[in-house]
Amino acid sequence: MRGGIDSNMINVLAIYGSHRRGQNSDILVYKILEGIGSNGTSTERVYASSQNIKNCTACEGCYKLGRCVIEDEMQKVYKAIDKADIVVSSSPLYFYSVSSHMKKLIDRCQAVWASKYRTGSSLISKKHRIGYIVCTAGEPENKSRFECAVKVLELFYKCINTELIGSLLVSNVDILHVKDSEDIQQKALEAGHLLRKNFILHEN
Ligand SMILES: Cc1cc2nc3c(=O)[nH]c(=O)nc-3n(C[C@H](O)[C@H](O)[C@H](O)COP(=O)(O)O)c2cc1C
Repeated sequence: MRGGIDSNMINVLAIYGSHRRGQNSDILVYKILEGIGSNGTSTERVYASSQNIKNCTACEGCYKLGRCVIEDEMQKVYKAIDKADIVVSSSPLYFYSVSSHMKKLIDRCQAVWASKYRTGSSLISKKHRIGYIVCTAGEPENKSRFECAVKVLELFYKCINTELIGSLLVSNVDILHVKDSEDIQQKALEAGHLLRKNFILHEN
């Protein structure tokens, strides 16, 4: 069982990777959150492009201290990850990978990795989390297009002790915006239901 202040709540963390508010990938995350539902849920939203998150400088401070020495808004993100039971991350596909803001946030999780494997102190709790990823691409359908971005997000989830339970990879959004695509929105809603169901199953 979980402990802490919000032990009766499902703590959801949504990390938005697009530079554009309210567009394709954002809409799909909104739908997933709608599917998870607000009953007994506490949701924290991190817009990677709006945060003051500096680049990892590879100073290796975290290898000695088990935390990041850069004092910026990433410190809040570490706390949000620590608290989360469900993590939903999204990114538009940029040059077959995640957006630069998303990558910057992920790179700073090297401190989480270091705390686990170098200092043994664990910057985030070792509790089991479940996660989902959303990635949108401008060009038409081609499954292999998402491979690099998915690998980046898979490793991110491994680092933050989050079991990836599914992904929604949507092509062609520069032609068919997801706001005009009922079936894709429905899939996102169902992904939210799945996350809630999985969370409850795991808890009991
Ligand atoms: C810098 C940049 C790089 C992009 N690279 C790709 C790409 O490699 N493959 C692709 O299919 N679409 C690419 N796109 C299109 C975006 O993936 C698409 O517009 C995006 O999924 C929209 O997401 P959003 O509406 O949530 O911002 C790129 C767009 C930008 C601005």
